[in-house]
Amino acid sequence: KTKVLKIDINNLEKQKIEQGAEILKRGGTVAFPTETVYGLGANALDEKAISKIFKAKGRPQDNPLIVHIAEIEQLYDIVEEVPQRALDLIERFWPGPLTIIFKKNSKVPDRITGGLSTVAIRMPNHPIALKLIKEANLPIAAPSANTSGRPSPTDASHVIEDLTGKIDMIIDGGATGIGVESTVLDLSTEIPTILRPGGVTKEDLLTIFPKVEFDPALELKNKNIIPKSPGQKYRHYSPEAEMIIVTGEIHNMIEKINELTSEYQKEGKKVGIIATNQTKDKYNNENLIVVGDRRKLETISRNLFKTLREFDKIGVDIIIAEGVTEEGLGKAIMNRMNKAAGGRVIKIN
Ligand code: TXA
Ligand code: MG
Repeated sequence: KTKVLKIDINNLEKQKIEQGAEILKRGGTVAFPTETVYGLGANALDEKAISKIFKAKGRPQDNPLIVHIAEIEQLYDIVEEVPQRALDLIERFWPGPLTIIFKKNSKVPDRITGGLSTVAIRMPNHPIALKLIKEANLPIAAPSANTSGRPSPTDASHVIEDLTGKIDMIIDGGATGIGVESTVLDLSTEIPTILRPGGVTKEDLLTIFPKVEFDPALELKNKNIIPKSPGQKYRHYSPEAEMIIVTGEIHNMIEKINELTSEYQKEGKKVGIIATNQTKDKYNNENLIVVGDRRKLETISRNLFKTLREFDKIGVDIIIAEGVTEEGLGKAIMNRMNKAAGGRVIKIN
């Protein structure tokens, strides 16, 4: 029932894009690649189509969706106003991994926004996504194309794993690039506020604004603050195994991870370690995956969700992950790791 269509990003076959666009126009669901993660798309103006997304993902009804556009005119068509601060961002970061919160107009169904008066919008920087949206000539609602709660899909095989039989089409455009979702930014406050850290970093945003804040609810310690981005309150990105993060100076971190590994092994547990190029030879544990290079954070973000899924396949009982810096892209990486670990972090100095 789910059609899988391979498209070469260097040779976008018009007839294939049209097949996808046709399904979207008729109110169906199409998973497609973006530069961040795969999205599960449907016509954002069609309540029934949107319901299919929630159903296929098993997504909580109050968690609003991001609307994807391919041309700036589509933005003016669905929002109340476009403030100057948003225009400055758009000029610099669109198409790209930045989602901006706008006041919605009456064309946007409540089903998209979970009843909020605002709508999250982004223009993805991926040739297939852009072409598909243009061809459908519709704003496309698209959450990540995973089963709710599982790690986001960074390859068509992950979408196939989660959603086969539940959606109409999967466009396989190969692996995505950034690997973590877009940054969600709220401009309704005096100081622009990052609701979800992502591909566009705080440091990037500080080239446009004098000040930028993180939503205090991003700190898992602040359990009684209600996040402004409803999605942030759910357990997320979760591998089946338990996970624990160890952060700190590199040698201490390695020592601690080795210590934990032998403790868990004594309890009869199968341990998986998420390591990096710099540390991979320092552990003696069979199930070790190198997620990337500590000096190139984009390699870690690209491989993180895939690594979590790989440990599910191996079937480990516990994943011990090395933490990374909270600077730059590290903020988004640590946010996703924290959620996958349910906040279990060991900090050593
Ligand atoms: O990179 C991405 O953003 C991917 C690709 C497919 O574009 N999409 C994605 O969508 O991650 P999703 O649904 O998995 O995450 C949307 C996030 C959620 O945390 C949600 O709560 C937040 O955006 N959000 C959506 N509308 C919002 C609104 N009006 N106000 C605040 N947060 C909102
Ligand atoms: Mg998601």
